[in-house]
Amino acid sequence: MSGDFKPFQFRSPRIVFKRNAWKDIPNICEEFGKRGLLITGAHLKEKSSTYPGLMAEFEAKKLAVRESIRKGSEPTVGEVELVTIAVRQQKYDWVLGIGGGSTIDLAKAVAGLARNEGSAAMYQEGKDLVNDGIPFIAVPTTAGTGSELTNNAVLINEQKRVKLSIRGDKMMARVAVFDPVLTVSMTPEVTAHTGLDALTQAIESYVSKASNPFTDLLAERAIGIIWDWLYKAWKDGSDIDAREQMLFGNLLSALSFSNAKLGAVHGFAHPIGAIHAIHHGLICGVLLPHVMKFNLAGNIPEVTRKFAVIGAMMKKDAAYANLSDGDLANIAIENIFTLLSMMGLPTRLSGLGLKKADIPAIVNDTKGTSLLNNPRDTTKELLTQLLTDAL
Ligand SMILES: [Fe+2]
Repeated sequence: MSGDFKPFQFRSPRIVFKRNAWKDIPNICEEFGKRGLLITGAHLKEKSSTYPGLMAEFEAKKLAVRESIRKGSEPTVGEVELVTIAVRQQKYDWVLGIGGGSTIDLAKAVAGLARNEGSAAMYQEGKDLVNDGIPFIAVPTTAGTGSELTNNAVLINEQKRVKLSIRGDKMMARVAVFDPVLTVSMTPEVTAHTGLDALTQAIESYVSKASNPFTDLLAERAIGIIWDWLYKAWKDGSDIDAREQMLFGNLLSALSFSNAKLGAVHGFAHPIGAIHAIHHGLICGVLLPHVMKFNLAGNIPEVTRKFAVIGAMMKKDAAYANLSDGDLANIAIENIFTLLSMMGLPTRLSGLGLKKADIPAIVNDTKGTSLLNNPRDTTKELLTQLLTDAL
């Protein structure tokens, strides 16, 4: 034994993946008790044909479900505080979050804080969750953020004008329900943004310093699936096979990054998102090939090799079989630029409205585990150069 096999541990909620799994949601909730709070977006309640059916199922089972309907914007500390106070008073048995990453993050934070003392802002500053949260069931309606599987919730702190996580395994979902039928109503724009988030999360966790042999398997498969299906799902949102594959790719990506962590793209994405109201996934998608270029230039053999694996997956063609790792790695990067263009998205930060004058503030606020786990070590100067090159 060489002894260099990387040890790891792995965390995950219970996972249910099935077409029309929405019909099973009341049964799953009932495992935790008769009274619950459903947090969802106005879009789902007003537009989804499954919503009335779901509420009818709850009623048939005689479960008391209170609805909390929100607009789809990213959750703030203030919003979490308000809902948490109500949940503490009502002593619900469970919290069900159905929606995109923002809604699931809100529901997760509320469920996690409900049986712990103190405000959301205190937990953003690093206070530990002492008690298990209220059982939380997460149901994503997008295929990309991975929030249904992670142990953190990203909240905007309005007073400090920053985005910070509250974090802890005690707030992780007990069950995550994946139903491709619920993702069909995503617009092409949301499909592209969330899909790029999933792709970025898969690639960043694949080359993360915290990656391990288990997460590598998940990340490789996630990248292959998302690469094969994202454009198809964007082009025809009613293609249920494409929706199913994207949801599966997102699941694998989320299992990978929630264990192996992320990199500089996500390090930058939060400060950029705090300054500009741009969708998180779009920021990630545009930054991804630029950060890959930066990481490739670090000449780290394992990173070059992994990028080459990605390039080879994208080009399933014997003609590419004899290319060097460096060439294949560059093919991977170029292909991501091409994908952005094919979906009508910008390939540079200036296309998102960012200016040179924004860079110092972004670099200043870029920190955290994402940066620590980026495969190439960074300095403020290198980060500034990277963003300048990506403008
Ligand atoms: Fe992300």
